[in-house]
Amino acid sequence: MAASDNSARAAERATDRVVAPPGRRLCEVVDNHGAGGYRIFSVLDALGPEPRGGQFYMLSAADGWGQRDGRPYLPRAFSVAEAQPTDHGLRLDFLVEAVGPGTERLAVLRGGEALWVTGPLGRPFSRPGELGPELAGAILVGGGIGLAPLAIWRRQLAELGVAVRTLIGFRDRAHSGGVEELFSCCEVRLASEDGHTGHRGYVTDLLGVLLEGDSARTAAVYACGPPAMLEAVREICRDRGVSAELAMEAPMACGFGACFGCAVPLAGGGYMRLCVDGPVVAADRIATALVPGSGHQG
Ligand SMILES: Cc1cc2nc3c(=O)[nH]c(=O)nc-3n(C[C@H](O)[C@H](O)[C@H](O)COP(=O)(O)OP(=O)(O)OC[C@H]3O[C@@H](n4cnc5c(N)ncnc54)[C@H](O)[C@@H]3O)c2cc1C
Ligand code: FES
Repeated sequence: MAASDNSARAAERATDRVVAPPGRRLCEVVDNHGAGGYRIFSVLDALGPEPRGGQFYMLSAADGWGQRDGRPYLPRAFSVAEAQPTDHGLRLDFLVEAVGPGTERLAVLRGGEALWVTGPLGRPFSRPGELGPELAGAILVGGGIGLAPLAIWRRQLAELGVAVRTLIGFRDRAHSGGVEELFSCCEVRLASEDGHTGHRGYVTDLLGVLLEGDSARTAAVYACGPPAMLEAVREICRDRGVSAELAMEAPMACGFGACFGCAVPLAGGGYMRLCVDGPVVAADRIATALVPGSGHQG
């Protein structure tokens, strides 16, 4: 199937997303623990539907939000890392790296505190068969904190009977974590730039090797990570004719299409709003993953 056909097909699937209930809702924080250099916090969502992998939520703490010079004023976007039904509602897990006032506040949430939650929002990942009838497997490529949406997507793919291979890379020990907690069930091939774990180098080195085999013809690639990693994945997949979806980041003020703060240039000209047309996008739909001002550094 031609790459442009993939884009059109993915664009038509906008209705496949799980739609958020209107307004924000108050959820109880039930856990917060360290995961290497990151933290995982969990809330109970009594009213929201189960999200699909790749969707995100807008989060803000009920207390202590806007304390440092009024910042953070707006809620912050977070990919859902896992969602499991419990007797008291859906337990949502989020992986956080403290990089500024919002993430610093979320990283120190305590059990019993309240969190404002809006979501699930945005376009989720597509199943391999939706990207091409010949595609039966999946290769997940995560960089740093970008492993979060791949965790729930790996489980949902496994429940669909899809064979999944997972590649995760980190910059260094301080900017790593979450693999043991979120991928405990399965084999993960690791890479790190400082060599503290797995292959010394980039996670895209592992992807290149994997795509030398039969995987290039039978698997779709799903990636989330820093812009430079996403751009490398986009180029590798383009050069090999492999279908790929990228979960991207951009500065998001509203999260539901009203502010246009999250505009990303399209390959054919024009822009998309990443919060409603993404955050998951077909790799051949965008001009570049190197969007100014977007994304973590890994
Ligand atoms: C769809 C989506 C999903 C996300 N999922 C996660 C997640 O699972 N875990 C997580 O820790 N973070 C995630 N983020 C990023 C998080 O929302 C931002 O890092 C957030 O702005 C941080 O808020 P802050 O107040 O701590 O720092 P800010 O004051 O907003 O920023 C601090 C520093 O980080 C840079 N920066 C922060 N966020 C972004 C961004 N999105 N784009 C560009 N530059 C940025 C700023 O330039 C600045 O240097 C996600 C973002 C999006 C759009
Ligand atoms: S974040 Fe407001 S339009 Fe996308």
